[in-house]
Amino acid sequence: MSKSAMLTGANGQDGSYLAEFLLEKGYRVYGLIRRSSTVTTERIAHLIGRPDFELITGDVTDATGVHRVIQRLRPDEVYNLAAQSHVGDSFDVPSATFEVNAVGVLNLLETIRTESPHTRFYQASTSELFGNSPPPQDENTPFIPRSPYAVAKLAAHNLVHIYREGYGVFACAGILFNHESERRGEEFVTRKITKYLARLAVAMENNGGNPPHDWTKLALGNLDAKRDWSFVGDMVRGMWLMLQQDQPDDFVLASGESHSVREFLELAFKSLGVDYRDFVRIDPKFFRPAEVNYLCGDATKARQVLGWSPRVSFEELITRMVESDVARERDSHGLRCAS
Ligand code: GDD
Repeated sequence: MSKSAMLTGANGQDGSYLAEFLLEKGYRVYGLIRRSSTVTTERIAHLIGRPDFELITGDVTDATGVHRVIQRLRPDEVYNLAAQSHVGDSFDVPSATFEVNAVGVLNLLETIRTESPHTRFYQASTSELFGNSPPPQDENTPFIPRSPYAVAKLAAHNLVHIYREGYGVFACAGILFNHESERRGEEFVTRKITKYLARLAVAMENNGGNPPHDWTKLALGNLDAKRDWSFVGDMVRGMWLMLQQDQPDDFVLASGESHSVREFLELAFKSLGVDYRDFVRIDPKFFRPAEVNYLCGDATKARQVLGWSPRVSFEELITRMVESDVARERDSHGLRCAS
């Protein structure tokens, strides 16, 4: 019999890649997504209608709903990817962030403990837990959270340990460093850059190779922050591997390479043959009240225990994101011109 998995946040960047990965492995996949008055399923539109993929309306903050769904499905695996995932926004909506990122996890773990103890649980922990603990960061590095987002994620991380050690739940935490793709939300810095670059590229194509004279600059915040960026397709493989082990544990997943936002800009703009400094302006509105300065992960444990390592390099990731956004921009520009 094929295995079953329930994914919260199934329509997010990570959820969409993980759903594809698990379906490919023969799983029956249930995707929990929040009710919304607008369409939020673009990333999984190609999966909807498959007999082995079912979408369920639900919200991790709704304890009774979570209870009902898990009691009905009793899935082999639950991957909790639902979150208020924007660190900057968590300063504006701290309570809502805490509710989803911490209380939501409690609802899932409590239901698994009481209703479906055989279910294996994956929690999306994060390198934001480390705050400004010096790099390289691994599973033993102290957590010093620097945002409401990270504090809520740390509460959830600790709950995973309590349910694992106290109740014997097979609960794993993946401490993932930044991971991106062409499906990344446009409010995150990498996609914000590649989307802007794509608009610029197409505008230049239509203006004799030059930027239009009234072209608007890209407003960004802190360009000196350093992040360890990977491709999300590599990360979902690691999530799955964690739940296939004999014992539940925590694992860092990271590339081991760190780059500043400025380096990301330099490389991305180089592909267009222009200098980012002519197109970027700094806007204080995008600085955070407290910043995480330097993340660089050490994934030795994942390499040794899971046999995991990333396959897509930083340069390939940028190329992939830029090419995808340029193709989309050309399409939508063609449509705009035709109408
Ligand atoms: N979003 C954003 N927008 N970030 C900016 C901007 C801007 O205009 N300008 C500079 N930055 C800087 C941020 O201050 C931060 O230092 C860095 O770019 C990356 O920001 P994000 O892309 O928003 O990601 P993040 O590192 O804060 O968080 C992501 O990675 C975490 C794992 O380390 C998210 O995916 C989190 O959910 C995840 O836990």
